Amino acid sequence: MGPSGELAGKVCVITGGAGSIGLATARLFVRQGARVMLADLDAAALRAAVAELGDEHADFHATDVCEGAQVRELFEHAVRRFGPVDVIFSNAGTVGPIAPLAEYPEEDFDRVLAVHVRGAFLCCKHGIARMRDGGSVIITSSVVGVRGDPGAYAYITAKHAQVGLMRSVAKEAAARGIRVNTIHPGPIANAFQQRVESSLSEVMQRDAGEFFDQIIPLGRHGRPEEVARSVLYLASEQSSFVTGSLLMVDGGMTA
Ligand SMILES: NC(=O)c1ccc[n+]([C@@H]2O[C@H](COP(=O)([O-])OP(=O)(O)OC[C@H]3O[C@@H](n4cnc5c(N)ncnc54)[C@H](O)[C@@H]3O)[C@@H](O)[C@H]2O)c1
Repeated sequence: MGPSGELAGKVCVITGGAGSIGLATARLFVRQGARVMLADLDAAALRAAVAELGDEHADFHATDVCEGAQVRELFEHAVRRFGPVDVIFSNAGTVGPIAPLAEYPEEDFDRVLAVHVRGAFLCCKHGIARMRDGGSVIITSSVVGVRGDPGAYAYITAKHAQVGLMRSVAKEAAARGIRVNTIHPGPIANAFQQRVESSLSEVMQRDAGEFFDQIIPLGRHGRPEEVARSVLYLASEQSSFVTGSLLMVDGGMTA
């Protein structure tokens, strides 16, 4: 008997797979019967993640998502190891500087855009070519993919740009029954967001974490596992008529 679960037998590639949301999603996907190929920058962190997930269910490829040749190798490795890809979770990210516009470093602007925009583009380009018809692509954007705020200029621009990429790829990939959507987490209780909040607290002269809890109608940060469950929805047949859409996972922050 084959594996059971929402993703039984599915092959899933997850970038940012050694990070908080990526690894929480990998854990859930494996519990749902998937085999996962994790990609991230740090081979040691990836190795530890695969050891936890079990190497019959998981493998890794150290990848910089900004580099086309590396992203191509990632998907070739996934196909060799597990077979054609069913799900791509393009999720690698970095926040970059938070600074007033006049002081915002230009080289950081390009670097942050490359990770989110070029990275997601390369995953779509090289991943969809190695995907089974009927697959699902999920790109992690953010609440700041649909609203602006001063300071994180590159990050917020990049998160908006991912929506344009998603919408365009969704229209081409629909011919093969492949669905493409973005997920938009609000502030999540993890190290990534703690780093953002410590910089923001300085700029705002108040506790940014408390500020977010006040402007989130549900009154709290989200958990990585809550984002993972929404990614599972988009990855699975539960969302079979959902493509080209933006899924807010933000406690109502953008309502
Ligand atoms: N934490 C939040 O509150 C929050 C909110 C909204 C959106 N997001 C987005 O969620 C995604 C995951 O973030 P997270 O919260 O798990 O943070 P995280 O820092 O734990 O995970 C991000 C991972 O991406 C990897 N990465 C960065 N640059 C890379 C590159 N060039 N190539 C390959 N991997 C690279 C990092 O090594 C890290 O493991 C990101 O896209 C982030 O922008 C996070």
